[in-house]
Amino acid sequence: MKKGILLASLFLITNLFAQNRLELKPGNTNIKINKEIYGHFSEHLGTCIYEGIYVGEDSDIPNIDGFRKDVVEAFKELKVPVLRWPGGCFADTYHWKDGIGPKEDRPAIVNVFWGGVTEDNSFGTHEFLNFCELIGTEPYLSINVGTGTVQEAVDWVEYVTSSNKSPMTDLRKENGREEPWDVKYWGVGNENWGCGGDMAPDYYANIYRNYASYIRGEDFQKVICGPSGGDTNWTETILEGLKGKNHLAQGVSLHYYTLPTGEWDKKGSSTDFGEDMWFATIRNTMKIKNYIEQHLAVMDKYDPEGKIKLIVDEWGTWYDKLPGTKDGFLQQQNTMRDALVAGINLNIFNNNADRISMANIAQIVNVLQSVILTNGPEMVKTPTYHVFNMYNVHQDANLIPIDFETENYEYNGDYIPALTASASEKNGITSITLTNANPKKAIAVNLQLGKDFKAAAGKIITGKEITDYNDFGKTEKVFISDFKIGKIKNEILEIEVPAHSVILVQAQ
Ligand code: AHR
Repeated sequence: MKKGILLASLFLITNLFAQNRLELKPGNTNIKINKEIYGHFSEHLGTCIYEGIYVGEDSDIPNIDGFRKDVVEAFKELKVPVLRWPGGCFADTYHWKDGIGPKEDRPAIVNVFWGGVTEDNSFGTHEFLNFCELIGTEPYLSINVGTGTVQEAVDWVEYVTSSNKSPMTDLRKENGREEPWDVKYWGVGNENWGCGGDMAPDYYANIYRNYASYIRGEDFQKVICGPSGGDTNWTETILEGLKGKNHLAQGVSLHYYTLPTGEWDKKGSSTDFGEDMWFATIRNTMKIKNYIEQHLAVMDKYDPEGKIKLIVDEWGTWYDKLPGTKDGFLQQQNTMRDALVAGINLNIFNNNADRISMANIAQIVNVLQSVILTNGPEMVKTPTYHVFNMYNVHQDANLIPIDFETENYEYNGDYIPALTASASEKNGITSITLTNANPKKAIAVNLQLGKDFKAAAGKIITGKEITDYNDFGKTEKVFISDFKIGKIKNEILEIEVPAHSVILVQAQ
């Protein structure tokens, strides 16, 4: 039998008997969905920092100490729990002392990875940490391992977090900040297998031990540069290299970007796509589930108690740059397809909340899968913004494990699960989030809640077309609206998840 016919028959058989069913299995699991799973990433790249977040005090764009007011308000509403900075690849070229002191004395530098543009360093350590305080978010700093030194890292930690008298804390005070900032998360290098120094894993493991043994502070969460995608050899070798010294690390990072075709030279447009690229993008997004499982299996071998957490500190879609934008600025639009990608990833992270303690979408403004896009004084909230906003009910909630069965979504002889889901409970409210990747079919799902809740309500994010996006100066096409649901009968709620949609059902 030909492969296509075999796949089609398998698809027919599985879908014929599929009952889309979600059963809540509360038990006594006691797993918290860390709010940091809803984290973000900001790099000196394109217009993420300069223009996107920081316009300077003299700008005509309304600002607070140089930070855009519209963006500050949008982030506060979003409850951004943690923000990673200054990179990315940029981090391993960044010398933090260039970004402190009077702005007119700060040296201009060339951003060698991203567009070769010159930056004036007017946004540095004080600006980033003050910005985090302003929006109420935890900072996550990436230390320069590629071109930095252990001493430079130690000085940064002391400058930022110490309350003792020392040359670094005197310098901080001279620069206008009396009290230390509260910084818990420290990444030791970024992609050191690639842009962060092209290191071999055993070499990096030793470097990590060297840095980590000097980076000391109460409650510090030190993060090892982990792998990209399915590279379990990197994970295995760095953890082997850490043997006997596990106390030096609290997290291992994982980076995985969704490329529609999986190929860097054929990424495709962010707005102009058909069902083929829609399907391929969703299929490639779902691969992260296997990568997570594979890395966790390796981590289990070296850390059976699961003390070292997985931190997915770069994830999201990566398409061709928007026509007319600069090379190396990674500017793309954000459509209903990105809303699905966000909803699917967040459901997967929630369901692994016992081992994933943080995740950071790339990147927060104007770069890759952003939640905010700016254009001069204008700003839009992208479909991805709305998904994060709707899913925020899961932040610091208790995970409810689920038994879940879904039919497949078939395209051109290939198929993937049509639905994904996750559930949690907080303050007596049970929240279930679901995604339907099928762009042509609403799917009925039987929610087995396990008790007769008194009331249930829903919200939905969808668009008329899968290519819908929110554009500057135009009415939003993709946003959160109410989703009508029926009554719970005998502990069961029957819902129909519309085609290409992300939904939230809440019961109490
Ligand atoms: O997010 C863009 C880049 O992607 C980051 O700088 C790097 O870490 C990754 O390769």
